[in-house]
Amino acid sequence: MSSDVPTISADPAEQYADLADAARALVAGESDLVANAANLSALVYHALLQVNWVGFYFFDGTELVVGPFQGQPACVRIPLDRGVCGAAARTRATQRVADVHAVPDHIACDAASRSEVVVPLVRGDELIGVFDLDSPVTDRFSEIDQHGLESIGQILVESIS
Ligand code: SME
Repeated sequence: MSSDVPTISADPAEQYADLADAARALVAGESDLVANAANLSALVYHALLQVNWVGFYFFDGTELVVGPFQGQPACVRIPLDRGVCGAAARTRATQRVADVHAVPDHIACDAASRSEVVVPLVRGDELIGVFDLDSPVTDRFSEIDQHGLESIGQILVESIS
């Protein structure tokens, strides 16, 4: 499965277009949430530079529970009123944090993390979970990263619909 993993492109928007194509190909014909989330976390982790955690938390009706990811072991459960992940789930809006140390509410799963982006996963009115990426570099994630990662999240949601 490794032959289609895209390499970094000079143009970040182009890179994300390639990554979205690879993501669609990876989930094509499969509707299992865990399987698709597992493959997408691996795809994105290996395609992006300067990321130390890429993965998913799923909403169990009460709180977020860790799902498939790449990176260091992470906190298992996150209440919706806590952390950057909780904020993304609660507000259903992407949270892009340039400096996690400036966010008192940030939950440090990996002490190396400096910046973070969390994309909510919503199907109709239903909260599925969040797609979370951490970087050891301050201000790693641009608006282009945000839009590209929102597209990947959407590809996952559509794959299970
Ligand atoms: N930093 C997140 C917790 C999840 S870990 O980054 C994997 C947060 O503040 O919600």
